Amino acid sequence: MTKVTLLLQEAIYEQAALEIAEQGYSIIDGFLSAAEVDSILQAIHAEEANGSFSPAGIGQGAGFQRNRNIRRDYIRWVNHAEPPVSCIPYFERLQALIRYLNRTCYLGIRDLEMHFAVYQPGGFYKRHLDVFQHAQSRKLSAICYLNPNWVTADGGALKLYLPREDGTENTITVLPEAGRLILFESHAIEHEVEVAHRERCSITGWLKDEVQFF
Ligand code: OGA
Ligand code: MN
Repeated sequence: MTKVTLLLQEAIYEQAALEIAEQGYSIIDGFLSAAEVDSILQAIHAEEANGSFSPAGIGQGAGFQRNRNIRRDYIRWVNHAEPPVSCIPYFERLQALIRYLNRTCYLGIRDLEMHFAVYQPGGFYKRHLDVFQHAQSRKLSAICYLNPNWVTADGGALKLYLPREDGTENTITVLPEAGRLILFESHAIEHEVEVAHRERCSITGWLKDEVQFF
C-alpha cells in the first residue's frame, strides 16, 4: 500500500472512531470494491446451492429458538481464522480498522464472529438488540452489505433507533448498498431490518471484547 493510501485509510478510520464515540454508529461507503463484493456474492450463491445456509434463530445456548415472526433470514457462519478466499480482503481491512479502534478508543476488541446472511424477498428482522442476556461480549455490530444498485423501493432498509438524552428516540434508515459497512454499538442501539423485496445479502459480524472458546 502506498503512503497516501495508508493516510487516506487512517483518515477514514479516524472518522469512524469519532462517529462511534459521538453518535454510537458510523457508516463507511466503499469499504469493499465492486469486484470484491461480486466475488463474495459468488461464494454466497455457491454455498446456498450446496445447502449450507440455515434459518437464523434468536437467543443463545439453551435459549436458542427459531421464530419466523421475528426473523426470516438464512445464515452461514464464517470461520474468521480461515476465511473463504473471497472474504480475505474484507477480513484484513476490518482487522486493520479494529486495530485502529483499539488504539484510539480503547475498545478492547479481542475476537470476531461473522456470518453470511441472506434475506429472500419477504425476509425481515423485527426490532431487537444484538446482545444476549447472559453474554455481553459483543461491543460493535459490523455489517457489510453486498447488494449492487439497491433502491428505496427494494425495501430491506436497516432502521436504527437512536436514544436521545430526553428519553425519546430518533430513527435513521440505511440502505444495504454494496460495499457499505455500518458499525454500531451492540449494547445501545436497537434496530430492525424492514421487509426486503429482493434478495438481500450481507456479511454480518460482531466485534467482541472476550475470546470465545468452544
Ligand atoms: C442482525 C441484524 C441487520 C442488517 O443480523 O442482527 O440486525 O442490516 N442485521 O442486516
Ligand atoms: Mn441485529
